[in-house]
Amino acid sequence: RTLPGRTVEALAEHIKSGQVKKICVMTGAGISTSAGIPDFRSPDTGLYANLARLNLPYAEAVFDINFFRRSPEPFYELAHELYPGKFRPTITHSFIRLLNDKGLLLKHFTQNIDCLDREAGVPDDKIVEAHGSFARQSCIDCSMPYPEEYIKLHIEEKTIPRCELCKGLVKPEIVFFGEQLPASFFQNRMLPYESDLVIVMGTSLTVQPFASLPGMVREETPRLLINKERVGGFGSQADDVLLIGDCDEGVRKLAKACGWLKELEALWAK
Ligand code: OAD
Repeated sequence: RTLPGRTVEALAEHIKSGQVKKICVMTGAGISTSAGIPDFRSPDTGLYANLARLNLPYAEAVFDINFFRRSPEPFYELAHELYPGKFRPTITHSFIRLLNDKGLLLKHFTQNIDCLDREAGVPDDKIVEAHGSFARQSCIDCSMPYPEEYIKLHIEEKTIPRCELCKGLVKPEIVFFGEQLPASFFQNRMLPYESDLVIVMGTSLTVQPFASLPGMVREETPRLLINKERVGGFGSQADDVLLIGDCDEGVRKLAKACGWLKELEALWAK
């Protein structure tokens, strides 16, 4: 075993001892719910439970490329609500930034499309946006890039942008069901194996291939799960630490045990 116990305190001691130098963080929608962005699968509050008004054949259709080709309207209805710019990073995003400031962050793998990690100051080259983001948009037929100022107008007015070249549908480069993940995901997917700590936060770990990342670790690598529910078979490895509950509370707990709480709060308040 690497840790003397499966507690946050034991993990903090391990971090403070200097033996942890490369941390991989893996996140999902749960780290942004306190910013006001719903997650997908939480009963009642999740996005998929609240899409009745869009008259979808099934909830995930709103992010399905074949459905989008036939009916792009529901996605653009939703994009209007989810478009970045309206939300402020959470203390959990600042915690990831803090890890980077301390030279401990190897990579942040995220399924989120809200860009809040960037906004919190995590540098671009440390982020793998496994499901893409709203940062770029292009034609789904000819791949021609589409200007940001135009798509902003369409999203604001809930109208459908079309390619200026071939009239194909334009879509933000969010990875839809039925589409490949970006090359950066495949280039970096072995990094968890090189890391000496994995932290998973705010994800149900139900969507592959992202869900397989926390398993790409060496047996002796401690893993920390901070999530409202237990997911992904966490607890099965000797050095799995589980903090079941809110992730903002969880990162505060870990930061406190590491002696970083004041620094973290200050970073977030900026
Ligand atoms: P989910 O909605 O599937 O899971 C969110 C997880 O975070 C759940 O386990 C919640 O219990 C937990 N959670 C919610 N709020 C929390 C909080 N404040 N503190 C701690 N935990 C909290 O979201 P993802 O796992 O991100 O893909 O979903 C994965 C992918 O499915 C998304 O990227 C999206 C979706 O379909 C695409 O659109 C391609």
